[in-house]
Amino acid sequence: MRCLYPKCQDQVDPVVAYGRPTCHPSGRPAVRLNMISSVDGAAVLAGRSGPLGGVADRNLFATLRSLASVILVGAGTMRVEGYGPVRLGDVARARRLSDGMAPVPPIAVVTRSCDLPWEAPFFTEAESRPVVVTAAAAPQENVDRAASVADVIVAGDLQVDLSRAVEALGQRGYSDVLAEGGPRIAAQLSAALLVDELCLTLSPMLTGGAARRILDGPAVSPPTTLGLDLVLEADEYLFLRYRRR
Ligand SMILES: NC(=O)c1ccc[n+]([C@@H]2O[C@H](COP(=O)([O-])OP(=O)(O)OC[C@H]3O[C@@H](n4cnc5c(N)ncnc54)[C@H](OP(=O)(O)O)[C@@H]3O)[C@@H](O)[C@H]2O)c1
Repeated sequence: MRCLYPKCQDQVDPVVAYGRPTCHPSGRPAVRLNMISSVDGAAVLAGRSGPLGGVADRNLFATLRSLASVILVGAGTMRVEGYGPVRLGDVARARRLSDGMAPVPPIAVVTRSCDLPWEAPFFTEAESRPVVVTAAAAPQENVDRAASVADVIVAGDLQVDLSRAVEALGQRGYSDVLAEGGPRIAAQLSAALLVDELCLTLSPMLTGGAARRILDGPAVSPPTTLGLDLVLEADEYLFLRYRRR
């Protein structure tokens, strides 16, 4: 990976370039949102984000996971992308342990239905117990089933209030949250002004059509102005990091 901004550099270590997000001044966990888009703004190709990515993108995806205290994802993405448990290599695990972190971060899934594949490896083979973030309106039998394989956070009445969810994760000791989408979760986080850092991979593809964008939901009002603070490149993919001003 090479760095194009703020300083040209041929070889950069993404672990050093990205580092761990620091806590929000309010004390809540910092939220880092990681998304990918085609050059013309599509967040999905053939129903998934996977086809937009490549080796370099997958490597950075894993690196960001290795830096995270907890990962947050929408149930839609978990289902469509067939999420499994987090797996990290020995080097990343050792680094985390020496930083006083769990060897792998848990994944917190946001769901209103609380109807998830409880028998899937995502739950049965997770090294760090998953978290299910749901609302009070979720069917009680589903919540009970969730509690048998995951920690359950109830954050909201009819639906999850993402601000309360992030706060509850903070109360459990997580100092930062890596949000991996999808666009509906990303939109709600953005509208609630919870996104402190946007890591955007620009895939060298034009897809056209009527694809969704990386945010699909409520408007960000007023629009958030971001500051660009990092541009990396590998395999013609651009890796942009923006911070909320
Ligand atoms: N380009 C990218 O970087 C990127 C990243 C991730 C995903 N994707 C793509 O995006 C698509 C999936 O994203 P999506 O936006 O459709 O779904 P999503 O945001 O991943 O998940 C939506 C689901 O999350 C739950 N949910 C969302 N908001 C909620 C709230 N406030 N309270 C309670 N539950 C809530 C609901 O789950 P229940 O149905 O269980 O109630 C809802 O059906 C896939 O095609 C995936 O490949 C793209």
